[in-house]
Amino acid sequence: MRTAKSGWAPNRKSHISKQRGLFVTFEGIEGCGKSTQAKLLARWLKAQGHKVLLTREPGGPRISEQIRRILLDARHHAMHPLTELLLLEASRRQHVDEVIAPALTGGVIVICDRFADSSAAYQGSGRGLDPALVDRLNRTATAGCWPDLTLVIDVPVDVGFARAARRQRRFDRMEAQEKRFHHRVRNGFKALAKAAPARVRLLDGRFPPDVVQAAVRQLVWSRLAPGKNAKEPRKT
Ligand SMILES: Nc1ncnc2c1ncn2[C@@H]1O[C@H](COP(=O)(O)OP(=O)(O)O)[C@@H](O)[C@H]1O
Ligand SMILES: [Mg+2]
Repeated sequence: MRTAKSGWAPNRKSHISKQRGLFVTFEGIEGCGKSTQAKLLARWLKAQGHKVLLTREPGGPRISEQIRRILLDARHHAMHPLTELLLLEASRRQHVDEVIAPALTGGVIVICDRFADSSAAYQGSGRGLDPALVDRLNRTATAGCWPDLTLVIDVPVDVGFARAARRQRRFDRMEAQEKRFHHRVRNGFKALAKAAPARVRLLDGRFPPDVVQAAVRQLVWSRLAPGKNAKEPRKT
């Protein structure tokens, strides 16, 4: 069980203090394969009989999705880095309170496509905001609802860009940042994996999706208490 290290006492503490499900997050630069891997994992875990919730950041509940629209709007060039961080943390707080913490309390495996580590990498390493400030706001916004396992899918920036460019839509405000920014973000994720190796695992995302997924499943499987929550995993 985890408790908030700092900050404001959540008004629905019961959700947060009785965390029972498994909280898995996917991280990495644009186009690394987070959404692909998150969906494959969710499908597999459901097939094993688990209750699974697949969600994403910025986003989730209605308030957070509205904040997402502001954050990703390519017209918002003037957004100050601190505005960006505060909006993300506001969105995150709502997401944790309305969706993630209640699901974990109900024994659900929550899979989140980006979470607090994205703020450390994007707003900290990418934008150059003070890492201690980002960490403090992350801890406050998540109120102890912290991932059990974080999978960083690592690819070179050019690989991620090439994949993201194949998606049939315009680049959003974050994707449209210069390459140097995305290099800093990638290095930020690598540093997080080095700093917290028990939680944050770096996976080589250059391999085909099924190869990456096999590594993902192995790591997730090792975190599920045998016999408590799970039947034997199928190979598919
Ligand atoms: N391991 C992989 N190898 C090749 N292409 C991939 C791989 N993983 C994902 N893709 C493709 O790259 C694009 C971006 O993947 P996506 O999962 O949306 O990345 P992200 O969510 O990290 O931005 C998609 O078209 C997807 O099908
Ligand atoms: Mg995605």
